[in-house]
Amino acid sequence: MKKVTIVGSGKYGSMTALRVAEYDLVDQVVMTDIVEGLPQGLALDMNQSRYVESFSSKIVGTNNYEDTSESEVVVITAGLPRKPGMTRMDLLEVNANIVTDVTKNILKHSESPIIIVVTNPLDQMTSLVSQVSGLPKNKVIGQAGVLDSSRFAYFISEKLGVDMKKIEALTLGSHGETMVPVPSQCKVSGEPLGDLISEDEISELVQKTSDGGAEIVGLLKTGSAYFAPSSAAAIMVKSIISNSNDVMPACSWVNGEYGINDVFLGVPTMLGSNGVTKVVELELNDNELNALKSASNAVKSKVEELNSILSQ
Ligand code: NAI
Ligand code: 2OP
Repeated sequence: MKKVTIVGSGKYGSMTALRVAEYDLVDQVVMTDIVEGLPQGLALDMNQSRYVESFSSKIVGTNNYEDTSESEVVVITAGLPRKPGMTRMDLLEVNANIVTDVTKNILKHSESPIIIVVTNPLDQMTSLVSQVSGLPKNKVIGQAGVLDSSRFAYFISEKLGVDMKKIEALTLGSHGETMVPVPSQCKVSGEPLGDLISEDEISELVQKTSDGGAEIVGLLKTGSAYFAPSSAAAIMVKSIISNSNDVMPACSWVNGEYGINDVFLGVPTMLGSNGVTKVVELELNDNELNALKSASNAVKSKVEELNSILSQ
């Protein structure tokens, strides 16, 4: 039986479960949470849409890890959002404990799944899942770049009044302050973005992209984005489950590529049935390469910060 598990049935997890089920590539999409009744109720609702939407994948809502057994892919969305009065460090510690617990429970029932990490702070949580799980590095991947690139594409399409389908956009680096939008790889109907708008205009779009998540949080007041984020996680699942080896930006283990070593970082990644098939090396210009190296250093120091909190 082909099974994908989504841990955390909040906004991000439930929307991802539905999107994956609607692709109709697996027998079961299992959705778990610590809140009793939440995954069960959502699963019932989603299953009742299968007749209209015409898909066969069954959604199973549960509070029991036994139901996740032998999952090929697990997406971890469980975690808390930042609450008033809570520092970034507080959130880091709380989510690190949740993600550690989830990873251990998953591995009790699935021997060697591919884990896609979503919980924030993304770069640190991806690294943590790798450490806690002991899985081969190609089996742990963080989701950020597909979302950030999609936001970048949206801002380009709005700026130029061009259909989204004509746009190619790319961001690398971290999911945070050291996100690295890559204008040299961005094209509109095959034309380089730099030939269509000025450097200042590109910088404005880059800034909007970096602020993309915060802008939505500011408008929603409670909770964060989940429609675009769930599309991003679901398409990663799709590439892995269907072994299509599509290339997309993802937070993957980098060891040598781009002259960078020993870090989970947003890089172009080929995703197939073993998780990361390979990290793809694109030709970046000097500015972009330097920005990617700075992002790598920033992520490494954040991982050290996390390790020192956890060792206290
Ligand atoms: P949410 O608050 O709607 O859902 C989180 C769910 O996790 C809740 O239902 C909660 O009960 C559950 N949960 C908490 N502890 C658990 C545990 N130990 N086991 C199982 N479930 C547990 O939050 P939302 O919007 O779904 O976001 C989830 C995470 O995704 C957050 O950390 C958020 O910051 C992150 N995120 C990441 C993005 C990315 O690009 N990587 C983009 C958007 C959100
Ligand atoms: C986002 O980018 C908050 O990571 C979340 O929407």
